[in-house]
Amino acid sequence: MPIRIGTKPHSFSDPTELLSDCHRRIEMFLGSLEAVAVVIGRPSVEETRRALEVALRYFSQAAPKHTADEEDSLFPRLRQNQDTEVQSSFSQLDRLENEHRWAAPLHAEVELLGKKYLLTGALSAAEVEKFRNAVAALASLYKRHITVEDSVIFPLAAHLLTQVEKIEIAEEMARRRDLVSMAQIDL
Ligand SMILES: [Fe+2]
Ligand SMILES: [Fe+2]
Repeated sequence: MPIRIGTKPHSFSDPTELLSDCHRRIEMFLGSLEAVAVVIGRPSVEETRRALEVALRYFSQAAPKHTADEEDSLFPRLRQNQDTEVQSSFSQLDRLENEHRWAAPLHAEVELLGKKYLLTGALSAAEVEKFRNAVAALASLYKRHITVEDSVIFPLAAHLLTQVEKIEIAEEMARRRDLVSMAQIDL
């Protein structure tokens, strides 16, 4: 049975496809936040409120699972690999993990101000500025981050990880989302 984690169904035999698909969702919801940032200085309208609500929910509930997929499932298995290409990518893995940490306070700021906007219908000029700056910083951080993961780390993983490791990663991803029992996974 194909499994849906991102925007399209996948078999769990190649988790790097699933991880890239998560990136497309991150980009989509960052786009929503950028669109909200343009109009957040004005009184709220229903369409903006709904877009903001959905994006905030995605970044507070779903996106941390993607970070865990990378930090707890993918990166540790790459670090165990003795291949020289992987060894030389270790500094990139460290930097990617640091970027996950740097994104956290920006997400917290967007969440705090976004929730205030949803609750009260308006933000002060200073808060609007803070919201816009945090969203812009996130957009630029993720742009580089996702490019490195999609173009360097995931192709390396797809090439070097064994089928068993790929299946283990996919199963861990499924468990994080309470998606399937192992028997349901299409190998
Ligand atoms: Fe990442
Ligand atoms: Fe990622």
